[in-house]
Order: sequence, then structure tokens, then C-alpha cells
Amino acid sequence: MNEVYLDNNATTVCDPAVVEEMSPFFTEKGYNPSSIHRLGQAVGREVAKRREQVAGLLGASSPDEIVFTAGGSEADNLAVIGAAYNYRDRGRHVITTPVEHPAVLEPCDWLAEEGWDVTYLPVDETATVNAGDLEAAIRDDTVLVSVMHANNEVGTVEPITELGRICRERGVLFHTDAVQSIGKLPVNVGQLNADMLAIAAHKFYGPKGVGALYVRSGVELEPIIHGGHQEGGRRAGTTDAAGIVGLAKALEMAVNGQEREADHLGKLRKRLVKAVNEDMPEAIIVGHPENVLPGTVNVCFPGLDGEAILLALDAEGFAVSTGSACSSGSPEPSHVHLAMGIKPEVARGSIRISMGRYNTEEEIERLVRILPAIVRRLLEVSPLAGK
Ligand SMILES: Cc1ncc(COP(=O)(O)O)c(C=O)c1O
Repeated sequence: MNEVYLDNNATTVCDPAVVEEMSPFFTEKGYNPSSIHRLGQAVGREVAKRREQVAGLLGASSPDEIVFTAGGSEADNLAVIGAAYNYRDRGRHVITTPVEHPAVLEPCDWLAEEGWDVTYLPVDETATVNAGDLEAAIRDDTVLVSVMHANNEVGTVEPITELGRICRERGVLFHTDAVQSIGKLPVNVGQLNADMLAIAAHKFYGPKGVGALYVRSGVELEPIIHGGHQEGGRRAGTTDAAGIVGLAKALEMAVNGQEREADHLGKLRKRLVKAVNEDMPEAIIVGHPENVLPGTVNVCFPGLDGEAILLALDAEGFAVSTGSACSSGSPEPSHVHLAMGIKPEVARGSIRISMGRYNTEEEIERLVRILPAIVRRLLEVSPLAGK
């Protein structure tokens, strides 16, 4: 059976060119870039080159604005906790949205436990934040706003440039989680008015366990990992040269190929959406109809269980994910769906199909042939159908 991977928002496989670029940094260049000896210094220069490259690709004005981390979660945690903590004397109010990834939501929960006030902006039925709501929520003691660029579950793209502009005008720091958007949409820290921006290499065909946080010059962060003085004193830990080299290579390919990738994914998405609309009248595609990541389709089948659809598709060779966070064996409706006002019984029947660079039109044709039959079969036996 030809397996078809359609879970690219969860992670992507490494591009072979990325692996090739990283390879010497595990072996003949596997030294500590912070060491004083020549072997270490040579690796240090390679890391510095990549830091400069990453800064350039994100539109940063200096390589010092890039902090390498061990992934997207760490970058988000550093932005949210690091900024809130550093500026705690200015105020203890943070604004975010209920549709963020847990990598932002949980640090906000932690801040709330520590005495910060957290405001969650409402989202509409497409998961979009309203700029007027942000204007109204900013207070004299607000120090940080964090809104994701694109949603990992439903693909909705937020009006980040506008939200960032409001924050800048009001003198409030603005962080955006661009983990899902990079490589699919143009991402430029200046154009987005971001003071901080998080990315993770494994979402754009780089290695897992490495990410970066852009931190605008002048913005100070309290480190969340203490120890050595790497990353300009902002993140302790022996520098992962191989990971950074992989991230830089993957980012170069993602940014330079962004338009082509968006075009490719957009075509696949269009075909899939057309088939869902025409052949599966019971299905509801959720997320913004236009401001959406190319390649992400989140579809709810009322009366069905997302996991049952996932397993049936898996048996046919298609790897997708459910739209719900499965905890302790009982799939709870996704927090994103609930924030969008989708009823729990509808949200439970959600699957996320996230296409990537290596998917082909032929694969999507196969999917749209199989999916309606699976849905019909499951509806026939579902105790929830029609209720
Ligand atoms: C929007 C978003 N933010 C943050 C993360 C966390 O990234 P990582 O898995 O690299 O820690 C993810 C990964 O699923 C994500 O989709």
C-alpha cells in the first residue's frame, strides 16, 4: 500500500538537502561552537553565518535578534514568560486568544497562577480575531499581546500586521507564533510589526527539536532556561550547531520557495474543498474561507467521531489527524472549535487534512474517491448520526 502522509501541520519529514547540510556537524564538525580552540571556533563561525542568514530570511535587522531554541514550544514560552517576567514592574496584564497553541496558552495559564491578569480576545466563527477587540482590551498595565499568525488546527490566518500596528501605537510588546505560517505565507517581522516571532524547523522540512525566536533589538527577556551564557545570555545550553544548520537550510528553502509552495498547496486544497462540498453534503469545512493556510483543510462530520474517520483512512493508507486533542483516551472537542462556537457534537467529528510539499494531485484524487464512501459507511453504523 502506498502510504499518503497528510499530517504536515503536525510535523514534516526532513528534506534530504537539509540532512546533507547537517551531516558534518554530527561528525567532523561536531565541536562546541562556544569553545576557544580552533575546532570549536570554526563551528562557531558556521553558526554565526546561519544566525545572520536566519535573521535576513525573517527580515530582522541584526543577527543578535535571533535566539535559537529547542523548538517552537520553547520559543513561545520564552516570548510569553520571558517578556512578561522581564517587564513585570510595568504591569501584569497579558492579552492572547483562546485559539492559540498550548505552547502559548499554557505559559499564559502559568502567568495567571503567578498573579498576572490574562485577557482572551474573542474569535468569530472563522477563528479570526477582531482588531477593535484588541484596541479595547489594551490597558495601562498591559505589557504583552500574543496572537498566532496562522492556526495549526483550522488554518485561519490572523490579521497580524494590523494587530501588531495597534500594539506598537500603544507601546505594548507584540509576539506572534509563526510556527505554522512560515514557508506557506510571506513572513517578515517588519511587515508584521512583530516584536517577537516564533518558528520551529520541523514544520518546514527541517529537523525536530530546534526553533528560533526573533526578538527585536531593545526588547529584553528574562531567560527561562538558566545555566551557560549562550544565545546572548538569553538561553542556556550547548549550542546545537547541527540543528541550527538544518534550520537555516530548511528556512532558506522554505522562504525562497514560499510562493511556489503556496501555489502547489493551494491547488491541492481547492481540489479537496471542491470534492468535500460536492460529494459530502453532510460535511462542514471550518476555518476562514479565504484567509486560510494553503494546505490545511479542517472538516467536521456531524454525528461521526473524528478518530473513527482517522482510523478508517489510516487503514486505506492515508495519515491525517483529528481536530480534537485526545486526552486520556476520550477525544475532547478541540479548544479551537469550541472558541469558534462550534457545538461539541459537531467538533467531535472533525479531521484535519494538512498537505505538504511532497503531496501530489494524484494522492488527493485518491483521497476524494475514498473519503465519501468511508463517511457513508460510518454514518450508517453511527449511534450519533441524525441526533
Ligand atoms: C502553532 C504552533 N505553535 C507551537 C507549536 C510547538 O512547536 P514544537 O512542537 O516545535 O515545540 C506547534 C506545533 O505543533 C504549533 O503548531
